[in-house]
Amino acid sequence: MKMKVIKVEDNNALSTKAANIVCEVLKKESRPVLGLATGSTPKKMYEFLVERYRKGEISFKDTITFNLDEYVGLAPTDSFSYRYYMEKHLFQHVDINKENVYIPDGLAKDLSKECEAFERAIDKVGPIHLQILGVGLNGHIGFNEPGTSFKSRTHVAKLEESTRQVNSRFFNSIDEVPKEALTMGIGTIMEAEEIVLLVQGEHKAEILEKIVYGDVTEEVPASVLQTHPNAYVITDIDI
Ligand code: F6R
Repeated sequence: MKMKVIKVEDNNALSTKAANIVCEVLKKESRPVLGLATGSTPKKMYEFLVERYRKGEISFKDTITFNLDEYVGLAPTDSFSYRYYMEKHLFQHVDINKENVYIPDGLAKDLSKECEAFERAIDKVGPIHLQILGVGLNGHIGFNEPGTSFKSRTHVAKLEESTRQVNSRFFNSIDEVPKEALTMGIGTIMEAEEIVLLVQGEHKAEILEKIVYGDVTEEVPASVLQTHPNAYVITDIDI
């Protein structure tokens, strides 16, 4: 085994474990910097973090967050945007200072300038202490699809048709799924001090096997994590 794998029973256990890891960073760092993901996988982790905030166990007062990605062309108020997702599942429920929330702006007039500004913002306060990741069925992390350079920085990415198909479950129809997104690059992601990859559900067994045991190749973006000194997987899949 090349990458550390923490095997848990189910989604509940996965989300508890992930929330615990986030809480440790929040308690340890005076100004925690988190890298966050959206999608189905981390939903319950956010729910648990909100619960623990409500119990007074944690605060986000001094936390700075960077989200991995955002669709091009969707407004923050669009219920399919990742900004909307983050507000709904975390930010509106906790004491985070909105000025400390960074999500690429998919409506920016100049997208490459927006990507540069995002990189500069990370540089200013980084490194990211803890990066939470999910993974696509094709091995993508963020919206870095197979073939993306391991050295990539935040950029405009083209979504694979298979990704649009998978993500269409969140939209009214496939036609509504944007064809492009802004995403943190793989090089950017790899600069985080600690990286936790959450992999939930048997349908991801095949890709997880490749990520953990397979070759490190740009054809399987998440396989790059094998080369990170402090990246590991939490999964409910038997591997
Ligand atoms: C989301 C993101 C994506 C997802 C991946 C898995 O911000 O960066 O890489 O983590 O597509 O999505 P789910 O969890 O919906 O299976």
